[in-house]
Amino acid sequence: MEKPNTDIDWFEVISENYMNTEGRPMSVLESIRKDYPITCHGVGMSLGSSNDIDPNYLKDLKLLIDRVDPFLVSDHLAWNHFNGIRLHELIPVPYHEECLEVITNHIDHVQNELKRQIAIENISAYFNYKSSTMKECEFLNLLTQKTGCLILLDINNVYVNAKNFQFNPVDFIKTIPKKSIAQIHLAGFTDMGNFLFDTHAEPVHPEVWNLLETFLDYIPENVPIMIEWDENVPEFQQLEDELNKVRKIVKKGIKNEVREPSELIY
Ligand SMILES: [Fe+2]
Repeated sequence: MEKPNTDIDWFEVISENYMNTEGRPMSVLESIRKDYPITCHGVGMSLGSSNDIDPNYLKDLKLLIDRVDPFLVSDHLAWNHFNGIRLHELIPVPYHEECLEVITNHIDHVQNELKRQIAIENISAYFNYKSSTMKECEFLNLLTQKTGCLILLDINNVYVNAKNFQFNPVDFIKTIPKKSIAQIHLAGFTDMGNFLFDTHAEPVHPEVWNLLETFLDYIPENVPIMIEWDENVPEFQQLEDELNKVRKIVKKGIKNEVREPSELIY
């Protein structure tokens, strides 16, 4: 397969789409991997489940990692697997000490099995738990301290939750330790009238661009930034145009200093 003519630096793939599979999906992935670095972004690890992490899931993920050598492996602060039943949504967890201990043990186990750090992403949510005793950002901060895991900071998810649950997105991002931010996601939400829905079906909204600009001095230099867009996907050129907005913002934000941002689209 010929290398596509694009300025995109790297790609992120959904791990589960390539675990325990061969045929066309794997040959496309291997062809992309020949020309580009990739990250493996999972949606099924279910770190927030009170069950143990599925050993078969971890075995298949490890095989994929060994095969494609991603520069980052990530999943979400969420659960979607319990007693053999898998849900197709990322369900939030309660933010309290007992849950912190469960997830800390799960992340320790995964990092030991995979023999590498993983990055945990903050999700968008539409309900929360009365039993929570701390904020989501405080919970993430403690996870990084206890496990040495990294953070995949989704700025769109921060904004969506800030609107849905009425908190200050700036406080959220400032609570995340700068040195732990390994990647950034941007995406477009859909305004449902009385709440924001994280659809990945629209361009990045101005409020989310503003948050990125606000935090340019805070996020680590050269942190990989990507745009998620997986419904109503436009022509590739429009995706690249969105990506170039990231480049412009980063370049403007760093004034005279030259750095090469990394971005991707999946
Ligand atoms: Fe995301």
